[in-house]
Amino acid sequence: MNAALGVFDSGLGGLTVLKEILRELPGESVIYFGDTARVPYGTKSRETITRFSMENLKFLQTFGIKAAVIACHTASSLALDAVRGAFGFPIVGVVAPGAAKAAAATKNGRIGVIGTRSTVESHAYENAILERDPAAKVVSAACPLFVPLAEEGMTEGDIVRQIVAQYLVPVIDYNVDTLVLGCTHYPVLLERILEVLPPGITVVNPAVEAARDIAEVLKAESLEAPGHHRHDTRYFVSDEPSKFVELGPLFLGRPITRVERVVEEYGWNLSNAA
Ligand code: DGL
Repeated sequence: MNAALGVFDSGLGGLTVLKEILRELPGESVIYFGDTARVPYGTKSRETITRFSMENLKFLQTFGIKAAVIACHTASSLALDAVRGAFGFPIVGVVAPGAAKAAAATKNGRIGVIGTRSTVESHAYENAILERDPAAKVVSAACPLFVPLAEEGMTEGDIVRQIVAQYLVPVIDYNVDTLVLGCTHYPVLLERILEVLPPGITVVNPAVEAARDIAEVLKAESLEAPGHHRHDTRYFVSDEPSKFVELGPLFLGRPITRVERVVEEYGWNLSNAA
């Protein structure tokens, strides 16, 4: 099927998920929406995140998308169940695939999850892991400063090292053998995280698993793009695009040239986007 795949996130972090989707599905066209006017999601309530997620999916729906990926871990944790049934296309989040991978990977049954405050407080990862492995022991830690660090492009240096080390203390003390990067921004800090972790810990990036998941869904539902035509990616944001263009490549691993701004009241002025 020629229709595009829709992807949304609270901002530019979801580009780490898009990176894996483009790697996994090089022939698919994608519409990416970053809700930069309302970022961060990671501090907000379930009710608010659900409303934002509905609006973002409605925006993507105007492009006639065939399926959607919620790249934001906070929105996947808090809103996926509520929004899934409201649309006529399949919707994949990052939490279930990440949790499945962690449950399969652990040997000692001890899994760490790091994410935003809202993700951690929702217990979504914990519940999804326990569904797959009821005997697992899960420790979660919110790392709220990781998002602004990544968005400042601050991925090196002593301050970053100290913050990473401090946030990971509860996870390391719990003797986990598997750590889930439960936030879009954390892959950007992966090197710093690996420096602090004891050797031998399996780090799960749910973006990789979600990309495989959406590929499987497209296949199972016969929604794959036909032939080998080159994919096309369009980027939309809800606020001024310059930061997205400047920092996006750190998250996506390739340059971004054109970003379109969707303006107006929430519910989005869809006339701009057609
Ligand atoms: N995209 C969010 C997440 O993955 C991080 C940024 C935010 O708080 O909006 O949870």
